[in-house]
Amino acid sequence: MNQAAESDPIALFRANWETYQKLLEHNYMFHQELVSASQQLIQSIERPLSLVDLGCGDASVSRTLFKNNQISRYIACDLSKSALQFAQSNLSAWSSALELNCLDMLEQLEQIPDRSLDLVFSSYAIHHLSDQSKLTLFEECFRVLNHSGWFMLIDVMRNDGQSREDYLNDYLTMVEHDWTAINSTECARITQHVRDNDFPLSPSEYQIFASQAGFHKTHLLDAHGFHQARAYQRLS
Ligand SMILES: C[S@@+](CC[C@H](N)C(=O)[O-])C[C@H]1O[C@@H](n2cnc3c(N)ncnc32)[C@H](O)[C@@H]1O
Repeated sequence: MNQAAESDPIALFRANWETYQKLLEHNYMFHQELVSASQQLIQSIERPLSLVDLGCGDASVSRTLFKNNQISRYIACDLSKSALQFAQSNLSAWSSALELNCLDMLEQLEQIPDRSLDLVFSSYAIHHLSDQSKLTLFEECFRVLNHSGWFMLIDVMRNDGQSREDYLNDYLTMVEHDWTAINSTECARITQHVRDNDFPLSPSEYQIFASQAGFHKTHLLDAHGFHQARAYQRLS
């Protein structure tokens, strides 16, 4: 990346986004399988969905995920204004139901009334939060969901008993070995990003947070190593 790109947030966003698009194109994070498994659950909900998408990015993933659903309310939330500009275009099929909010995801949840949504969806975003914020997020998801509502989570997860350091080393070894379409500059940028920002929990740790928050039912939708889709249902 040149110097101008490094100091210009839009250019920086585009450079990172281009790399992320490569990961999607080559399905390195198993988006296709995880979205398809999540789709089966979502399609079993037979009414127009009200939902919030936390850390929606450019919403290209959600556009595929919800393509067969009617949507009554779609709140798309991300910290990045640039990402939301792409999201607006990717979610244009639901423009009359769409609210785009440039907010931290916990602030977003705070603004949503109790029991008002069918679905909270988040893909590859909550591993950036601290553990305390992840617990607060589960509590907030529980609060905003209606009786049969789901918190659907696609994200990286550590193995049970694995330390963060061991996880980082294993994940980055996998990146170096398997993600052959990325160049060395991109690989260095991903390594830095993962080391600085990724704090994934294990499935059992998420289960403890889900139970503490009040969720009654958990489904493993699909798992490909560290890349997993899980769903937590309120039922109370
Ligand atoms: C790896 S991208 C995932 C985008 C999309 N959900 C997907 O699966 O392709 C992570 C996104 O989460 C957003 N994000 C990270 N922390 C956030 C926070 N605290 N609140 C809202 N968005 C956040 C980032 O701006 C980024 O767009």
